[in-house]
This record gives sequence, C-alpha cells and structure tokens, in this order.
Amino acid sequence: MKADVLLGLQWGDEGKGKVVDVLTPRYDVIARFQGGPNAGHTLEFEGVKHVLHTIPSGIFHAGKVNVIGNGVVIDPVVFKKEVDALLQRGVDVKKNLYISRKAHLIIPTHRLLDAASEAAKGQAKIGSTLKGIGPAYMDKTGRNGLRVGDIEHASFKSMYETLVAKHKELLGHYKYQYNLAELEPAFFEGISLLLELPLIDSEYELNRYIDSGKAILAEGAQGSLLDVDFGSYPFVTSSHTITAGTCIGLGLAPGRIGEVYGIFKAYCTRVGSGPFPTELHDQTGEDLRKKGHEFGATTGRPRRCGWLDLPALKYAIMLNGVTQLIMMKSDVLSGFRTIKVCTQYKYRGQVIDHVPYDVVNENIEPVYEELQGWDEDLMQVRDAEQLPVALLRYIDYIEQATGLPITIVSVGPDRKQTLMRKVPA
Ligand code: IMP
Repeated sequence: MKADVLLGLQWGDEGKGKVVDVLTPRYDVIARFQGGPNAGHTLEFEGVKHVLHTIPSGIFHAGKVNVIGNGVVIDPVVFKKEVDALLQRGVDVKKNLYISRKAHLIIPTHRLLDAASEAAKGQAKIGSTLKGIGPAYMDKTGRNGLRVGDIEHASFKSMYETLVAKHKELLGHYKYQYNLAELEPAFFEGISLLLELPLIDSEYELNRYIDSGKAILAEGAQGSLLDVDFGSYPFVTSSHTITAGTCIGLGLAPGRIGEVYGIFKAYCTRVGSGPFPTELHDQTGEDLRKKGHEFGATTGRPRRCGWLDLPALKYAIMLNGVTQLIMMKSDVLSGFRTIKVCTQYKYRGQVIDHVPYDVVNENIEPVYEELQGWDEDLMQVRDAEQLPVALLRYIDYIEQATGLPITIVSVGPDRKQTLMRKVPA
C-alpha cells in the first residue's frame, strides 16, 4: 500500500477540502502535511457549509483516522475554535484526530510578528493571511520553534517565555504596538485542549498504517504556485506545498507515495499579492469573481480572477508528479461565449512555454487560445457523459495539453456535484 496525495496545482483555493471529503470513503487515514490556519478548506453537504483550517477534511466521516502531520503549524487558538465548532455539530473530533508531536506551534507573538512584518513592507507586502505562518516556520528552520510535544514537558511555560522574549525584541525593532496579555489566555486554553488529544509520533504511526495495508490520503494546503521554493518568491507561503512536502511533512519516503491527484480550477484565482499573468482586470474578471463566489474562506478577501494558465499548470504537474487531474468549478464558466486558455507567455521579446525565473520584476504577457463556451447550467448534472459538448471539448483540450486524464469534474460546492469520469485503461 502507498499513500496517495491530493494537492492544489494553482495558488490555493482549488477546492481541495471538498474533494478530500468526497474521496475519504476510499481511505482509512487522512493526513495534513503542511501549512496551518492560513488554509480554509470548505466542505458542503446536507445544506451546511463547513470551513476547516487545520483539521483534515476527512473528519466528517465516522471511523476514519485524521492526522495533523509534523509539517503543519498549529495555532492552538484557531484549533480550539475549530474543534469547538465541530463538537457543536456532533462530530466526534476527539476520537478520530491525532496530532504529531513534531508539528510546530504558532504562538500569539508569531501572529503579531506577521502583522508587524507586513506593515513594515508597505506596498511590497506579501498579502499574508496574517495567521503567523511565516514567523512560525522561520522559528522552525531557525531552530527556535516550539513543538506540540513540548507542551507535555513541565518546562513548557519557560520555553514559551524564552521565545516570547526573543519576539518582543523583534517587535520592538518594528516599533509595533500590541497587547500580549489580551492574547495569551486563549492560547493557553488551546494548549489545554491539545493536551486532551492523542499526541503521536506520526511518522511511525503513518508508516505502520502503510505496512498494515491501510490506505492513506495526504491532503495538501495552499497550492503549488505558492510553494516556498517553486512559487513566485517572495510572494509565496512558507511551506513546501508540493508532493515532496508530503514526504517531509509526514515522514514518508518518496517510494511510499502512490497516486498524486492534482486539483485545479477551470480558471485561475489568486488571493494576496504577487504575479498572476492571466489576471483579468475587466468585467470578465468581475463576472468570474461573482459567479464563483471568489472570496477567501479564511480572510474574506476578494480573490483575483483570470483564465486558465497552461504553462503554470504544466509546471505544477511536473513538480508534483501528478498522475490524474481533478477539475473544479466548471459550472462557473457556464454562460461565457468564449473561454480563453493561456498556452504560452511573451517574455523578454520571446514566446516561451515555461515559467521563467523572474516572474516578479519582468513583464509576462499571456498568449491565448480561444475555445467555444457553453450556456448550459451544470449544477444539476450528475453524470459526466451528460456534460455539454463544448465543456467536454475543453476537458479534452486540457487532457491533450497535459497528457493526463481528468478523472473528476466538479460542478458545484455540494458533495453530490462531483462527477467521476472513467480513467482510460
Ligand atoms: P501566508 O501563508 O498566510 O503567509 O500567506 C502568503 C501568501 O499565500 C498570501 O498571498 C496568501 O494570500 C496566500 N495563501 C496562504 N494560504 C492560502 C490559502 O489557503 N489559499 C490561498 N492563498 C493562500
């Protein structure tokens, strides 16, 4: 048995939570491997919308194990809110959720540092979700961080104070005003909750699951184009969002990775700053945002919208070793007379079909191919064979361009609006 991976091929918000929820019945274990409360995974069923930030999207299925892996950064404050909301809805979180002792903690001063750093950057800000992600990962790689396992130690409070002292110096440097005393009680309540949950050595546990024939699905957060190494640096998140991040973030050797589901929207969105070659600043962009309800699940910020970017998609497919594609939000494209797809870029006077090194300071102009649109409303379609011919052509076009099958097409936010397509033998 190998662990399958599901991750985003664009700038996040592809709809990973929904698909993980749909695929969970096929798996025994769902594991998050990177990111933290900057993620907002939205799931909708039985008329209710749920947003998860840290907890894997398999949590709604009784009897499935959910693991928060070592590569994740956990904010106990956000985590407690998430757990409380799930308990209120009758989800038995405490029974099915396991947390890696090696996952790092986001402490209140990480959030303050995130805000101070962004404010200091002014126009050049990353557009961070301000959840303390960057500072927490900085402390991890800087070897100053606090891990979940530390909360089991009698000296945790003093370890916390040492880190806070360091952060206070930095905040002084930023001349940032704050009231830490207001933030700490919620943090320590979150720590108490974490202590009630099973804290595990997840790398051993997950490898044991594989050895005993259990099926694992690793759930990515953010998207490949936000990867700290391969995204449009510095406008990226601070973790490895690609398949390789699964190995690091769960302690699984590369040979233990099986299928890689690459999930993408039928168009593109990006929230926060940074380059976005196919971004539309016109009415079409506005229409996509409105039809697609493109507002951040974590921050509520309007998402920037644009056409599908094939060079970027192919780049993400290459980095991740994607074996099958999942196309989301196809329904949003209904009603557009034509649909554009970026096939190449104009860059430094040349036409290229790769993502060049400098996408931040150089101008990248998309070269488009125009395909016929469709008018039919897809929300009620329950069989992939019944999709409009123009959409089937769009699917075929992307499959030809990427060399991969699109095995799932999503036509709405509900579980039921997920169409399975036959994989060619
Ligand atoms: P951070 O990870 O909160 O520091 O944000 C860094 C960049 O990644 C910003 O542009 C955010 O908008 C973006 N980002 C972070 N998490 C997500 C996500 O889950 N979906 C989409 N964009 C995200």
